[in-house]
Amino acid sequence: MSRKPIIAGNWKMNKTLLEAQEFVDAVKDNIPSSELVDTVIGAPALFLAPMAYSSRGTDLKLSAQNSFWENSGAFTGENSPAAIADLGVQYIIIGHSERREYFHETDEDINKKAKAIIANGLTPILCCGETLETFEAGKTAEWVEGQITAGLKDLTPEQVSNLVIAYEPIWAIGTGKSATSEIADETCGVVRATVEKLYGSEVADKVRIQYGGSVKPENVDEYMSKENIDGALVGGASLEAESFLALLNFV
Ligand code: G3P
Repeated sequence: MSRKPIIAGNWKMNKTLLEAQEFVDAVKDNIPSSELVDTVIGAPALFLAPMAYSSRGTDLKLSAQNSFWENSGAFTGENSPAAIADLGVQYIIIGHSERREYFHETDEDINKKAKAIIANGLTPILCCGETLETFEAGKTAEWVEGQITAGLKDLTPEQVSNLVIAYEPIWAIGTGKSATSEIADETCGVVRATVEKLYGSEVADKVRIQYGGSVKPENVDEYMSKENIDGALVGGASLEAESFLALLNFV
């Protein structure tokens, strides 16, 4: 089974609107065809509408970094998946470790978000990953299996086939300390085995799994050469256009 690679930048809470627009102008006509790779930028919600406008007709795809699970109502400060879909955005990152830590998001919340995102025709990028303490205790597989099982609860095989899962060990995020490609591949393999256990081998062969954590142009090839890694979710190295474009050189 050959899965299409997916490289996604996660800008987190960075950039001004002008910087976001300059970035789009610099990359939109210089990325590989979407027949070869899905190229995605996860931008702050405020920038998605103008970015969607200026990247229309190109291969650049956009992602939100979060959404709520209801489509409307009294939820001050939240963005609905319906409103995000309406902008022409294709993906929504959910369950990032920073949201789990600072905003106390639970696996149950993340599962509700996944269902709402899919119901609105978008693709969740569902994040999982362990702390350094869990890693050092040798409990990564157990931890990640638990997060994935809870995050996918009650989704159908077809829905799971189409989603993207990102394995991001918390100890490798923004630390410059990336997991070795062997460790990353092994844990992405645990994610795939969990999907296989829950949904069978056909679904496990289709689901795309990214590694995230200090990925940069210098190490992306190494990760992409691994059997269970279909892409990367990239923070720091996605912020500058030149570096972001260099992440795509493996294609
Ligand atoms: O979601 C991407 C991320 O958390 C990794 O960040 O800066 O280590 O690439 P970074």
